[in-house]
Order: sequence, then structure tokens, then C-alpha cells
Amino acid sequence: MTRSIGVVGAGIVGTNLARAFMSVGHHVVLGARDPLSDKAVAARNELGLDVVSLDHAAEGRDVVVLAVQYAAVTATVAALGDVGDAVLVDATNTVGEELPEGATSILDVIAETNPSATVVKGFNTIGAEAFVKPTIDSRALFLPIAGDQPGADLIAELATDIGFDALVVGDRTTARIVENAAELWIHLAFRTGLGRSFGFARLER
Ligand SMILES: NC(=O)c1ccc[n+]([C@@H]2O[C@H](COP(=O)([O-])OP(=O)(O)OC[C@H]3O[C@@H](n4cnc5c(N)ncnc54)[C@H](OP(=O)(O)O)[C@@H]3O)[C@@H](O)[C@H]2O)c1
Repeated sequence: MTRSIGVVGAGIVGTNLARAFMSVGHHVVLGARDPLSDKAVAARNELGLDVVSLDHAAEGRDVVVLAVQYAAVTATVAALGDVGDAVLVDATNTVGEELPEGATSILDVIAETNPSATVVKGFNTIGAEAFVKPTIDSRALFLPIAGDQPGADLIAELATDIGFDALVVGDRTTARIVENAAELWIHLAFRTGLGRSFGFARLER
């Protein structure tokens, strides 16, 4: 089924996710702080989609994906306003920054900023270049997802559409574990010399 998706943030995550969702037929708009910035205009020209301001990014969408720097999460969620029935997906990582006292995950921070939203964590445990082809040697990369149902199942379906081996690993209280998985990926990629060209995969016996 074609979904209407707002991807917020015109960086490498936002543009690659937008490209991936469009490649399987979803309708995507990009939300940016300044739709006329060089970055936003470049994304619009390259991807052939509409770039809208943050207050329009969630309007009428089934899904809104946050792909901004952690430092900008609270202000960005506030700027989106009421997301209605849209599933609000958090693809961000703290990358060394501290969570506020009392929060166990970025998803907690988002849920506190927008208490009525259905919130889901996902797309944060892999380098952004993998979104457009999430396979290595024909094996789908594993993508853990955590959050409110039925939103989490919808996001797993979208992730599967674009080629991931997606699995809902729990509710919103499990988001911390998914954020820890991203910390492991970042550690392996940048601190052990493994580099960005790897991803997690699931083997079962
Ligand atoms: N890079 C990866 O491979 C990867 C993979 C998975 C998850 N992540 C996480 O996904 C998020 C986006 O990563 P990215 O690499 O795409 O980031 P990025 O290119 O550095 O930035 C993404 C967007 O953040 C927005 N932003 C809004 N307010 C900001 C502020 N005050 N300071 C800085 N940026 C601000 C900008 O939005 P505008 O377009 O509105 O200017 C920018 O385009 C991060 O939380 C990152 O940890 C990254």
C-alpha cells in the first residue's frame, strides 16, 4: 500500500531514507527548517520531491521520520506540531551527548515533547548509505524496531519493503536497547577500524 511519508532533515539519513521509500512507490515529502537552504534545494532537485517547512511536514502523513541531529530533536518535534495519527519514527542517536535526567532513550524525550503521538524507534542502527540497498552478499541487514503498536508493525513493514530484515523487538521501553545497538555500530565503525561498510544480520538455527 502506498503511504504518505514525511522525512524530516535534509542530511544523509533524511535524503537516503526518502530515496529508499520513493523507490518502492511511497509518496515522500522532505521537511526542513529552511526549505530554501542550499541543502534543501539540492535534495529537492536531486530527489524530485517537495521540501516543506517543519510545520507542514506531518500534515496528512501516515508516517513522519525524524532524521535530525540529536541536539535538534526537541525543537524539531515541537515545530512539527500535532502529528495527528501519523507514526512518529525516531532515527536519531545521541552520539556521545547526554540524555536529560529521567529519560532512558531519545524516544522518551520525543514522547514527552509530544505525549499524544505514536512513537517508534528505528533506522538508527546502520550507516545511512545502506538505506537504498540494505543487503550484503544478497543477505538483508537486520533492523531492530521498538515502539507503540500498531505503529511499530507498520514501520517494520515499510523497512521490509525497502529490503531490511526488520523485527519489532519491543514497545517504547525497549528503545534504549535499540539505541545501544546503534552505539555498538558506531563503536565498531569508527573506533575499531571496521569502517561503515558493515551491518548487523540475523542467523537462526
Ligand atoms: N549518518 C548516519 O549514517 C546515521 C545513521 C543512522 C542514524 N543517524 C542519526 O540520524 C540523525 C541524522 O543524521 P545525519 O547524518 O543525516 O545528520 P546531518 O546530515 O548532520 O543533519 C541532519 C539534519 O539535522 C538538522 N538540524 C536541525 N536542527 C539542527 C541543529 N540545531 N543543528 C544541527 N542540525 C540540525 C538539519 O536539518 P535541516 O535539513 O532542516 O537543515 C540537518 O539536515 C542523527 O541523529 C544521527 O545520529 C545517522
